[in-house]
Amino acid sequence: MRLTAPGLELGMEAVTIDGILDQHERDPSAVIAILQDVQEEVNYLPEGALRYVAERLEIPVSRVYSMATFYRAFSLEPRGRHLIHVCTGTACHVRGAVRILDALEREIGIRAGETDEQLEFTLETVNCLGACALGPVVVIDGDYSGQVTGAKAARLIRRLRKSDKEQRHD
Ligand code: FES
Repeated sequence: MRLTAPGLELGMEAVTIDGILDQHERDPSAVIAILQDVQEEVNYLPEGALRYVAERLEIPVSRVYSMATFYRAFSLEPRGRHLIHVCTGTACHVRGAVRILDALEREIGIRAGETDEQLEFTLETVNCLGACALGPVVVIDGDYSGQVTGAKAARLIRRLRKSDKEQRHD
């Protein structure tokens, strides 16, 4: 199946779900790993992909949905190429997490929990990343930054935009 979904029309490569299923030998017990691989390709789990995976694995769609909704790492909504997590746990909160969130919302032009129209950034909050001593903490695409200020957070975004732009011109 060639997967077509709204996010894919914006320059992301189409992905062959069958290829992912084959890598996991179409094993129904590997459904979580299969969903992880699909999400890795397109940044989220389109409804059509969930239905297709269920059909091919010959398991109920409801089972695939319940996995996709149970794990917080999965998203049923399109997400940006860059995933930004701002920790708003207690230790980070008292050290200014809200100011960081405000700065990021202003810099990107979206609110927490949203993705921008270009599918460039998704901004989310999390409740303690287990790195309280480094707080306030922001994680961008899996990279932790500690003792972040609003100005530093905005700078990180500008740097990302710049490097994306440079890569597009390569
Ligand atoms: S409260 Fe932010 S890392 Fe623990």
